[in-house]
Amino acid sequence: MEVLARRQFLRFLAASPLLGLTAAGRLLAEETLDAIQLPEYLIKSPADALDVFDFHNVAKQVLPTSHYGYLTTGTDGNETLAANRDAFERVYLRPMRMVDTSNVSLDTVCLDQSLNSPILLAPVGSQKAFHADGELASARAAKTLGHLQILSNVSSNSIEDVIAARGEPVWFQLYPTNNWSIAKTMLRRAQEAGAQVVVLTVDLNSESNRVLLGQFSRADDRDCNACHAAGPDAWLATKPMYAGMDSAAADWDTSGMTWDYLDRLRNETSMKIVIKGIVTAEDAASCVKYGADAVYVSNHGGRAEASGRGSLDSLSEVVAAVDGRVPVLVDSGFRRGTDIFKALAMGASAVSIGRAYIWGLAAFGQPGVEKVLEMLNAELSMVMGQMGARAIADIGPQHIGR
Ligand SMILES: Cc1cc2nc3c(=O)[nH]c(=O)nc-3n(C[C@H](O)[C@H](O)[C@H](O)COP(=O)(O)O)c2cc1C
Repeated sequence: MEVLARRQFLRFLAASPLLGLTAAGRLLAEETLDAIQLPEYLIKSPADALDVFDFHNVAKQVLPTSHYGYLTTGTDGNETLAANRDAFERVYLRPMRMVDTSNVSLDTVCLDQSLNSPILLAPVGSQKAFHADGELASARAAKTLGHLQILSNVSSNSIEDVIAARGEPVWFQLYPTNNWSIAKTMLRRAQEAGAQVVVLTVDLNSESNRVLLGQFSRADDRDCNACHAAGPDAWLATKPMYAGMDSAAADWDTSGMTWDYLDRLRNETSMKIVIKGIVTAEDAASCVKYGADAVYVSNHGGRAEASGRGSLDSLSEVVAAVDGRVPVLVDSGFRRGTDIFKALAMGASAVSIGRAYIWGLAAFGQPGVEKVLEMLNAELSMVMGQMGARAIADIGPQHIGR
């Protein structure tokens, strides 16, 4: 009897405008982020982008599957990758009202260098894997908008060509190598090209377990050897910074590297030294002790170790340990103006973006990178206006909470 009554009720509902109301009520109740199904949309030009994720969607479509995997991968089950984004959600913003923010400026200074914006282009290697113009497109975009670019030593374009395209020196990022003669040659070359800062990346001294890269690569039926030479070190031979070197001797194993590597660097070059890949107070203190000019908080965009800890969470302890003695930079997971603002409020001097600008590069080349930078600058300016901060120096811990 109860079943029959229920059936009758459902039949009544189906024929009734009440069903619409019921469905609408349910939609409201379920109006969480997960329940909202966005329409599929691929932007056709950079101008259509609403946020940087619009470029991600296009990049995913246009890149070879394995290249997309290389760009996207984290480690293990991508715990750190996810943690990088989650960390932003645990920090809220505290807007300050009634401040005249009719003129917001992003101008700032980092390592004695005047910058139009605290947003930097992180070192991302092999950019021709994402667009035929490679790092030159990123450099031209950085020039148009006046952003600082950090060039990887495993770039697809040479530092000389990138500096020419940028129109100003870039910072040079160096992966350490046990083969000191290789490091030495690169340092000399970077300095002669005009670089004034070397960024030593120290977070890949052990291997990283990039499962997602493997999953995308095995789903790619292209013949990789058609573009990539075969052999374990053959790809290095295609990297301009290794030109003329015995790349087979480029020993990537730096598992024995210790802090005295900084002394070697210091003795070798007059460039300022930034240490990239620091995530703990202890290491931050060591960076200062061993004479680093800046500390760069990064977990390599979740590609180094499966710590499961967001970069923003590491930033607080690093800032506390450094205690204003040297500038602190940060990257990993930054996708929005609010993300950047939160890091600045926690004490970072500058914030680098990695995948966000590479999505722009992959999708549209130089104009894509320009639009990503433009959008992030505009978003940062907007949130500064909302928080009552007219200048980067006005941003502080009073603007955030947990
Ligand atoms: C495809 C790819 C290549 C990278 N290559 C380098 C590199 O050559 N040197 C380096 O220090 N970091 C490299 N990184 C790490 C970035 O410098 C940066 O730490 C990271 O991308 C920041 O995280 P995000 O991508 O979430 O913004 C690379 C990252 C990606 C995604």
